[in-house]
Amino acid sequence: MHLPFSDEKSAAKVKCQHTLAWHLNGSLKFLIAPHKAVGVLLLLLAAVRFVWALRNLRRRPAGSLKVKLGHLALYALMFAVPASGMARQFQAPLGVAHGALAFALLLLIVGHVGMALVHQRKGEQILQRMM
Ligand code: HEM
Ligand code: HEM
Repeated sequence: MHLPFSDEKSAAKVKCQHTLAWHLNGSLKFLIAPHKAVGVLLLLLAAVRFVWALRNLRRRPAGSLKVKLGHLALYALMFAVPASGMARQFQAPLGVAHGALAFALLLLIVGHVGMALVHQRKGEQILQRMM
């Protein structure tokens, strides 16, 4: 039996949320509080790192526009993920995006590390450049 279109759409939405959501069973719920504390700490560290990057604006590593946009997206999500977490804590509208933004950051990090390894294997000494 086919559900009416709007129901199918909401069923798909729920399925999508289920795929993205981080379902904690009862025994792992204790992780929620420390993840908030670690998240706030990461937000502060990201701010310090970003200020450092701005202060070194004249001595930026070389990179194509694609690389620069990727790194900018990493910075943006490093702020947006904990900020949306705080919004969720206080039931502000941005809070609904927290899970999806965290998932996007995870994907971007996997891609970022993958590309770093690809370039390193090609003989570009990018890992050494980080030191
Ligand atoms: C094993 C993990 C990682 C490796 C091997 C890695 C590797 C690198 C490399 C090689 C660069 C370029 C450095 C240069 O051009 O001199 C870079 C830049 C960057 N990485 Fe990673 N990375 C890792 C994890 C992460 C994570 C977890 C994040 C953020 C959540 C991140 C965010 C960034 C950002 C924002 C830049 C640009 C920095 C700037 O130019 O200001 N990286 N990374
Ligand atoms: C880098 C930092 C963070 C990451 C990667 C992260 C990741 C996540 C993820 C994956 C979820 C599950 C999403 C879902 O069920 O849709 C979640 C839930 C949540 N996060 Fe975060 N988070 C971060 C920081 C924060 C911060 C700083 C706060 C607030 C101070 C926060 C508050 C929450 C709340 C209230 C929930 C819902 C918990 C529940 O189901 O009861 N998060 N977070």
